[in-house]
Amino acid sequence: MSGPRPCPLAVPDLLKMKQRGEKIAMLTAYDYPTARQVDAAGADIVLVGDSLGMVVLGYESTLPVTMNDMVHHTKAVVRGVSHGLVVADMPYLSYHVSLRESVRNAGRIIQEAGAKGVKVEGGRKRTRVIRAILDAEIPVMGHVGLTPQSVHAFGGFKVQGKSATAALAILEDALSLEEAGVFSLVLEAIPAELAAMITERLTIPSIGIGAGPSCDGQVLVIHDLLGATEGPCPSFARRYAEVGATMREACRHFVQDVRGGQFPSDAESNHLKPEVLVEMRDRFEAVTKRQWRS
Ligand code: KIV
Repeated sequence: MSGPRPCPLAVPDLLKMKQRGEKIAMLTAYDYPTARQVDAAGADIVLVGDSLGMVVLGYESTLPVTMNDMVHHTKAVVRGVSHGLVVADMPYLSYHVSLRESVRNAGRIIQEAGAKGVKVEGGRKRTRVIRAILDAEIPVMGHVGLTPQSVHAFGGFKVQGKSATAALAILEDALSLEEAGVFSLVLEAIPAELAAMITERLTIPSIGIGAGPSCDGQVLVIHDLLGATEGPCPSFARRYAEVGATMREACRHFVQDVRGGQFPSDAESNHLKPEVLVEMRDRFEAVTKRQWRS
């Protein structure tokens, strides 16, 4: 990045980054210690994704995640971030029922949890709700392509936009969302060529995940990047570490040490001062004798 990085990063800074040709790095976080590391590493956007449901809460999809889950985890992330822009996902059903409820829910993410923006999944059919949220002065990030909240409609977590018709529909969705006023757009699991065409036509920055290298920014789920995800990672995720294996090894070591009497050591124990120990023994003996007599 050229020039000093604005601190903390604000929504309009992202547009300037696209105009300057600077790539945007976004990572997910769901708790305070992870948020601190992600922020210290220089992530521009810290996303409290509803992927929380799958990588932290152990659900099979993001659908069971609630507003209360999002508010709880976003609060923790906000406490850990001082440089990046914190954006939180609107979970399933929080923006589908009515405009009034949607604005109220987006407002909770800003007012109660302290995020600076919300992310909403879906294309053209979401422009009405997006406009209502924007009317409440809440910045909105869009998300098209493989939108995980549509997993049942898609019949699984599958790459989207593979036919010319499907690709065109995603392009039209992207342009409608830009027109509605989103400040950036996540492109998930779509062909790289399609992501490049969308990115070229948008004024706002695109942020890709499984969408090739031409997007204005890239995002990964932190557990995939760290190698902390159970089971196979998505093919587009790069594992930069094997934290899951490191954690398991450390825990195994602890269990072994406890069973073998090697933990805690003398240095890991607290001790009485010698004079307190002598006094305590005398008094303990006196108490024991009294009890013995009665
Ligand atoms: O929920 C999430 O983490 C996301 C990112 C993968 C973009 O939506």
